[in-house]
Amino acid sequence: MSAGFEIILDGGPVPVRLGQTIGAALHAAGIRSWQVTGGRARGLFCGIGVCFECLVTVNGTPSLRACQVQARPGDRVAAGR
Ligand code: FES
Repeated sequence: MSAGFEIILDGGPVPVRLGQTIGAALHAAGIRSWQVTGGRARGLFCGIGVCFECLVTVNGTPSLRACQVQARPGDRVAAGR
């Protein structure tokens, strides 16, 4: 197993492999959606920064695309904007 660390999503730990984006880590952990807008579950969709379906708040900074932000040890991630 490669070296890794954890981030915190809405209070719960999520394992991360070095170099993963937050979106990749959530997907690898089986988390397919983390917000609901317009009655639809939202999470990774395009995975390349185009669709804005994957927005999260990281360490208090809102509206970041989870698929574009590299995870760092101890990041505190909140679902949605
Ligand atoms: S999954 Fe489309 S912008 Fe992140």
